[in-house]
Amino acid sequence: MSVVDEIKQRLDVVEVIGSYVALKKAGATFKGLCPFHTEKTPSFVVFPNTQSWHCFGACGTGGDIFSFVMRHENLDFGEALKLLAQRAGVELEPLSTGAREHAEVLERLREVNVIAAEYYHRVLIESQEAAGARAYLERRQMSPASLRSFQVGFAPNDWHRLGEHLRSKGVSQQEALDAGLLTRNDAGNVYDRFRGRIMFPIRDIQGHVVGFGGRVLDDSQPKYLNTPQTELFDKSSVLYGIDRARQSIRETGTAIIVEGYMDVILPHQFGATNLVACMGTALSESHISVLKRLCNTVILALDADEAGQRAAERGTLAAAEHLPKDIVPVPDARGMIRYEERLGAEVRVLLLPDGMDPDELILSDRAQWDSLVEEALPVPEFHLQRARQTYDVSTARGKQEGAEHMLGIIASLDNPVQRAHYVQRIAQWVRVDERTLSRRLDALRRESGTQPARRRAQRSIEQSSEKTSGDTAAGTAPEEHVLSLVIKSPRLASSVVEETGIDESSFEDPRHREIFRALIPFMHNPDAPYNTGDIIAALDTESGTQVESLARQISSGPPMSEDMYREDLIKACTRLRRQEVGRRMQELRYVQMEAEDEGEIRDLGARIATLTVEYLRIERLFQSATYTGKRQQQQTGSS
Ligand code: UTP
Ligand code: MN
Repeated sequence: MSVVDEIKQRLDVVEVIGSYVALKKAGATFKGLCPFHTEKTPSFVVFPNTQSWHCFGACGTGGDIFSFVMRHENLDFGEALKLLAQRAGVELEPLSTGAREHAEVLERLREVNVIAAEYYHRVLIESQEAAGARAYLERRQMSPASLRSFQVGFAPNDWHRLGEHLRSKGVSQQEALDAGLLTRNDAGNVYDRFRGRIMFPIRDIQGHVVGFGGRVLDDSQPKYLNTPQTELFDKSSVLYGIDRARQSIRETGTAIIVEGYMDVILPHQFGATNLVACMGTALSESHISVLKRLCNTVILALDADEAGQRAAERGTLAAAEHLPKDIVPVPDARGMIRYEERLGAEVRVLLLPDGMDPDELILSDRAQWDSLVEEALPVPEFHLQRARQTYDVSTARGKQEGAEHMLGIIASLDNPVQRAHYVQRIAQWVRVDERTLSRRLDALRRESGTQPARRRAQRSIEQSSEKTSGDTAAGTAPEEHVLSLVIKSPRLASSVVEETGIDESSFEDPRHREIFRALIPFMHNPDAPYNTGDIIAALDTESGTQVESLARQISSGPPMSEDMYREDLIKACTRLRRQEVGRRMQELRYVQMEAEDEGEIRDLGARIATLTVEYLRIERLFQSATYTGKRQQQQTGSS
């Protein structure tokens, strides 16, 4: 059983929430005033049988004890886990020896970085040789308070001063090399990497210094030097300023992504505190996965010049594909289940006026900045605006190319309502019948392996919610994804399959059922010799061919460690199960809506409630796969 499950088993939702909110029993539920918005009549309901809560008033939030505590105490998942584990008296699992050693290495690198950050900062504030740097920063309007709170520093223009300082603090040469603070040339000489630069310590969301960016004072090159890839520092996932911006991002529900260090610090100084910077890389999946836990809207602030816009196309398209979308079952006051789309992050684009960086704009015209933020366009709308400037739709050729370009973009949108909306927008623009465009869109989606929107609306919304991306599943149907992983190793798969409750009936496609059936003996009997040939031989030709192609598909993918395999499988299985359970609930809900007998309605309600519990359990399993890495970090942080 997972830690999360154990905690939920030991704690009662009424008791946990009751310690924050005054609750009154109301039939099978408990009611109180919602702590997340101001109200006079109680619309905040706690459901003991599903161990969940929901506000039926203005804010419409809901979830389990984890989401409640995260929201109420303003914690991230790892912190909520720690807090609830303590409350439940559940020990967070100790790390394996290998993991512990790794954690110790990371901890030491952080300590080394802290020593360096303090050193650089002291040099900037106190030393004569930093006078030029101080003057420069003052010219850029940076206040002493900002220098302190972002711990801005200066690396002396010398080959060995940092190295000597680190040695005096007990840091070995190897450790300093590993942290990327020292570097070794071809001749084998070791010296300070950063010299004569203004230093910006880069912190992770917990505030640990993971690396540095160093800026020259003049026009020499490179303008910025960053810590190289180290155990701690991964340029493509770091968000500069996230530790300072996190609270404000949560409160405003919006994160603004800019490009530079200065573009984060100066706006912070002037009260725009929900800004973070990517380190000169495109917006990545891991950036999004950090931000989506904090907010619903991510705004990319980009240069208006052509290069910036092209970057936007690449970055935002990649990011848009990783938007989390979820349909969650929500019991209403009578125990009837309806579905709500929990809005995932939406990426918007803010175009900066020509040649201006966010810091300059905020300093010179705060009102314009605020209105640009206000007017930032959702990604597809941004592309439409660009397309309007690119294509001449007064000609047949322009119409065709423009429509094709835009349809290609919206084909990757998961949400059918959104797609329909943009088909309408495109139709208005090119003046072509909407139905013609829809047919073309369906064809494009079929070509790229996405489902055409031919199923009933609710059904396809349900399906689309399953294309939660962020792993190798993107583009693969859940049933096939699960099968390909089980085919790869039935022995490794068996525990996950069991934990997630996957069985034959989880598969809708009868051929997939058959393949799954053929794999069962190998899952249950780990010692049986296994090769895909046996499976193929046991099946009819058609299914056999499919097994062959699934096996080929998975073996042609990137190599996977056992942990990655497990995580991938948990995600795939939970995705499939969510789909299955969602389907069942939907069916029961229809039945319930048509039922007239009170007893039957209650009975169906109870069955839906049971499924809701299962749905939430699967949801948590899915989350736990996503959070594995993070949980380990949290634990080492506390020990
Ligand atoms: P910019 O050249 O726009 O610099 O690079 P900036 O941040 O606006 O700095 P100021 O305002 O001139 O002081 C944007 C970002 O790209 C990365 C850095 O993260 C920088 O903040 N970059 C840029 C590098 O990593 N290396 C470089 O040589 C240049
Ligand atoms: Mn700048």
